[in-house]
Amino acid sequence: MQDLSLFSRRDFLKDVGLVSLTGAAFWAGGCESCQQQIQNRPTRKNIQELWNANHSDPVITTYKNAVAAMKALPSSDPRSWEAQAQIHLNKCIHRNWLWLPWHRVYLVYLERICRKLTGDDKFALPYWNWNTHPAVPDPFWDTSSSLFDANRGITQADQADSSYIGTTVLQNILSEANFNLFASGPPPTSNLHDGPFTAMSGLEATPHNSIHGFIGGDMGSFLSPRDAVFYMHHNMCDCMWAHWNNDLNNANTNDPAWVNFSIRDFVDENGSPVTVEAGVTVLYPVLTYQFEPCSIGGMQGGPKKLTGKQLEAFLRAGAPSKLEFGQRWEIRRAMTAEVGKAATLAISLEPAALTSAVQAGSHTRIVLTVSDVEVPPKRDFYVRVFLNKPDATAETSIEDPHFAGSFAFFFDEHGMKGDAMAGESSASALTGLLVDVKPTLQKLSQAGSLSSQLQVSFIPVPFARRQAAGEQLKIGRLELAVATF
Ligand code: C2O
Repeated sequence: MQDLSLFSRRDFLKDVGLVSLTGAAFWAGGCESCQQQIQNRPTRKNIQELWNANHSDPVITTYKNAVAAMKALPSSDPRSWEAQAQIHLNKCIHRNWLWLPWHRVYLVYLERICRKLTGDDKFALPYWNWNTHPAVPDPFWDTSSSLFDANRGITQADQADSSYIGTTVLQNILSEANFNLFASGPPPTSNLHDGPFTAMSGLEATPHNSIHGFIGGDMGSFLSPRDAVFYMHHNMCDCMWAHWNNDLNNANTNDPAWVNFSIRDFVDENGSPVTVEAGVTVLYPVLTYQFEPCSIGGMQGGPKKLTGKQLEAFLRAGAPSKLEFGQRWEIRRAMTAEVGKAATLAISLEPAALTSAVQAGSHTRIVLTVSDVEVPPKRDFYVRVFLNKPDATAETSIEDPHFAGSFAFFFDEHGMKGDAMAGESSASALTGLLVDVKPTLQKLSQAGSLSSQLQVSFIPVPFARRQAAGEQLKIGRLELAVATF
C-alpha cells in the first residue's frame, strides 16, 4: 500500500511551516501550542461578502496593497507580479490530476509573499465563490486599484452561466467519489493509467476552464495571473477540493506518481526556491489554513466524519483511483459542432447492459469519453452536453433531466512544459474529456426513456460578449463506457 512514508513526519511538518512542532503528538493533545497554532490557522474568506460588509475590509486592503507591492518590484525579483505570472506561463500544469496540487502550492506561496510585503502576518488569501456570486467580484472593477485589469472580455455586470457554476452542476462534481473523475486523470507519461486515454474531468473541465474563458483577456491565457482575480478563482477551486476531501471524505489518488511528484516552480516570501511534493499539499488545508465554507447552493460544510489524526491518516493514505473500463459503446465518426447549434451523435447500445450499470452501486460510473477533441484555436465558447434531447439549446435549463454537464477549454499556444500538449500548435493539439453521465442516465431510466440508441448532443455556446462566430468544436471519437473503481 502506498503511504506517504517517503517523507517523515518531521519533514512534513517542516514543509507545511510547522517546523517548531516536530515530534509533537499534537492531535493527541500532547502539544498545547501546536494545537493552538493549528486551531488559529488563518481563514480564507469570501471576498464579495467581505466587500458587501465593508469596502475597506482589512483582507481586501492587504490583498490590494500586496498586489501593488508586487507590481512595484522589478520583474527580476521572482516575487514580482510579472515574475509570478511568468511562472504560470512557463510551468503551469493542466489537463491532468497534478493541476490541483500545483496550483495549491502556487497560492500558498503567493499568500506568504503577500504577508511579507505588507507585514500583515495573519493575511489569508480570499476566494471568489462564483456559485453564489457569478460576476467578477466588485473589488476588481475599481480602475484605480491594483486589482483592476483593463484586459478582460466582460464587464462588471456579466454573469457566469449556470452550465458551469450552477448549484446542480457543482453538486454533481462534488458527489463524484473517484479522483480521476473529480480532478482529471493522470498525465500521459504515467504508466499507471488503465483508462483509454488521459483526460480532463469535473472540477477542471467545468468551472475551472469555463471561468477562465468567461473572463477572457489575460484570464483566457496562461498569463492569467496578471489578473488579480486569478488567485481568487483558484482559491475557490482549492476550497472545493478541500471540501471534497475534508468534509465529504473523498480520497485523493495514492498513485506514487502523484504523491511523490515534486513541485519546484515556486519561491517563498524571501525569493528562495521551494520544493513541495504533491502528497504534502493534501494536509495544507488541515494544518496551515482553513476555509470559511465555500457554500454551494445552501450547503454549509458536510458530514465531517473524520477529524484530527483520523483525518490526517485518511488524507495521507489516499486510495487507488484508477478507473477500469468495462463495456464500451463507441462511435468513431468525427463530428463538428458550430457555435450556437446543437450537433447530435447517436450511440447504439444494449439497453439491458446500460440499465444494469445505471442500477449498480456508486463505484460503477457511466462515462462519456470524448476523445481526439481538437483544442479550438480560439476558445470563446463552452460546450453544453445533453442526452436524448437533440432540440436542446443554449437556454435549456440545467435542471432539465437531459442536461449532462458542460466543459470548456483552457489552453495557450505560448505556454509550455507542464501542460503536456501546450507548446504544440493548436492545429495538432488534441485533448480528451470525461463526463460522468450516470446521474443523467438515472433520471432518464426512471422516466423509462432509455432505448437501444443514446443521442448525445453538444452545443457550443459563446461566453458573454463573445460572438465566437465561425468557431467550432471538433470531436474525433465518442464512447460511452461503464467504468468501475
Ligand atoms: Cu493554471 Cu486556472 O490556471
